[in-house]
Amino acid sequence: MRVEDIEESQSFFTTTVALVTSVYGEQANVMSAEWSIRVSIDPFLMAVFVGYQRGTYDIIKNSGEYGLSYCSDQQGHLAHIAGNYSVRDHDKFGMAEFRTFGAKYIRAPLIEGSISNFECRVVDEFKVGDHAAFIGEVLTGYYDDEKKPLVFHGGHFSSIGDRLSRS
Ligand SMILES: Cc1cc2nc3c(=O)[nH]c(=O)nc-3n(C[C@H](O)[C@H](O)[C@H](O)COP(=O)(O)O)c2cc1C
Repeated sequence: MRVEDIEESQSFFTTTVALVTSVYGEQANVMSAEWSIRVSIDPFLMAVFVGYQRGTYDIIKNSGEYGLSYCSDQQGHLAHIAGNYSVRDHDKFGMAEFRTFGAKYIRAPLIEGSISNFECRVVDEFKVGDHAAFIGEVLTGYYDDEKKPLVFHGGHFSSIGDRLSRS
């Protein structure tokens, strides 16, 4: 049944969840972002939309780089921790088993066990309503084709369903 409700309708998107990693000085952070997506093929650019009040905003603004690790369906707990606590008053890396590996081109670590990871250098930033759009040039990317993606829908994490036939 179709319902008109501009507030509730915003829970009816279906997205991936990226663990956005960032480092500036001695501070390292990880936050969840459903709003991140490829925005150009050549050059390969990824956007992430970050609220100005997030600790992550200041770290990316200052460092000019970030990592994106797209959650597998085994990483819902990590997405919950990274998305519900702030670096301003928590060491999120100490709150759950965020296993990391070193990036090649950026200081921020990447998260092990994800379906894909990207190392990004900020090439543009602009304001979109109440969020900052960071556009990152992808310096390198990784994937693991044995993992399945985490899906975010209606405020809940799920795993992806069966592949459908086209007919
Ligand atoms: C599943 C999920 C997706 C989220 N997506 C975004 C997003 O795309 N952009 C954003 O600014 N915040 C998003 N958030 C909220 C931040 O992750 C959250 O405010 C976090 O505590 C910020 O951490 P920080 O202050 O350490 O940067 C999301 C939260 C969850 C749980």
